[in-house]
Amino acid sequence: MSKKPLNIGMIGYGFMGRAHSNAYCKVGNFFDLEYEPILKAVCARNEEKARDFANNWGYESVETDWRALLARDDIDAVDICTPNNLHREIALAAAEAGKMILCEKPLSMNVEEGEEMCQAVESAGVPNMVWYNYRRVPAVTLAKQLLDEGRLGKIFHYRAAFLQDWTISAELPQGGEALWRLDVDAAGSGVTGDLLAHCIDTALWLNGSIQDVSAMTETFIKERVHSLTGEVQKVGIDDACAFMCRFQNGSLGTFESTRYARGHKALYTFEINGENASIAWDLHDLHRLSYFDHSDDSVVRGWRSVHVTDGDMPYMDKWWVPGLQIGYEHSFVHQVADFIQGISDGKPANPTFRDALETQKVCDAVLKSAADRQWENV
Ligand SMILES: NC(=O)c1ccc[n+]([C@@H]2O[C@H](COP(=O)([O-])OP(=O)(O)OC[C@H]3O[C@@H](n4cnc5c(N)ncnc54)[C@H](O)[C@@H]3O)[C@@H](O)[C@H]2O)c1
Repeated sequence: MSKKPLNIGMIGYGFMGRAHSNAYCKVGNFFDLEYEPILKAVCARNEEKARDFANNWGYESVETDWRALLARDDIDAVDICTPNNLHREIALAAAEAGKMILCEKPLSMNVEEGEEMCQAVESAGVPNMVWYNYRRVPAVTLAKQLLDEGRLGKIFHYRAAFLQDWTISAELPQGGEALWRLDVDAAGSGVTGDLLAHCIDTALWLNGSIQDVSAMTETFIKERVHSLTGEVQKVGIDDACAFMCRFQNGSLGTFESTRYARGHKALYTFEINGENASIAWDLHDLHRLSYFDHSDDSVVRGWRSVHVTDGDMPYMDKWWVPGLQIGYEHSFVHQVADFIQGISDGKPANPTFRDALETQKVCDAVLKSAADRQWENV
């Protein structure tokens, strides 16, 4: 069956630009979908670099101004892979132009912006999704399945951490390519919006809404040279953040994130403790799900490490044979597949902008709680 084209216009060609381009290239080979993504155009300010990127990934054309990309009739879906401070402006214009929108996380710099973005896509009636890709790691999707089946029973605890160590040097500048994450004007916040947003999205998906939070943040290095101005400037982001919370289902949550955990590059972990069973997951071993079932015979009871590679496990019937694992990049392929299937079914793939706004609300409450040194309702 010949597939219908879905013309993609991607804005930004950094880390996520590569991860998404790879997903668009692969998805049609592994998933049977009505639409085939066509790499129509990539947009970035540096034309030469954009052209190199386009040649490498097979984009048909290049734009240097995202407004020109949005004005094109041959673009169906816009993929926003730029720093956070551009998400709102591009998304509002894309919705007005009637484009489908795939936006990188976090949805926005704050709740106000996010609300505006939700209203724009909803009144334009355009399919929209935010790239919280960890939902599509098969072991994480399996965790969701086990929770939805009620296997864990009543949930008591949710604990998550996202640890890195790449900003410990005081010599590291802020601002500019890749280092925009240290510049509060481009990022909105530090580890809260960058790393904890992932932990919060997964938690809301797996364990339901968060009622209230109590947080602390720290900025260990107070001033850094700005790459774009050359001036020493105050650092406005949170370098580390820890918070506790209460979920609507009565369970307690603890979350921690930092870029100062020497020895950890991208250690995202979560553990959920229920009355009957517990689940744990670790990004460094992303194809495994740890599971403890209290109903096991006591002489063999213990944590088991489930190798999530069998055909009856989420997404795995699309890949190799049982026992052969997949990796980080596949979570993006799965997300594109679900987005396209959502277009065919008329049912939006999650998380939509509206779903991602819930994460934004928790992030804002966490930052406010830390600033005010008191509990904050979400
Ligand atoms: N889902 C995930 O796991 C994940 C991982 C990393 C980053 N992200 C998110 O993806 C987004 C991009 O992050 P990244 O790591 O790819 O950053 P990056 O620095 O690697 O790439 C950003 C890109 O945006 C481009 N850009 C900046 N201003 C632009 C403009 N005015 N017009 C066109 N292009 C412009 C830059 O040239 C660069 O190509 C951020 O919102 C980030 O939070 C998500």
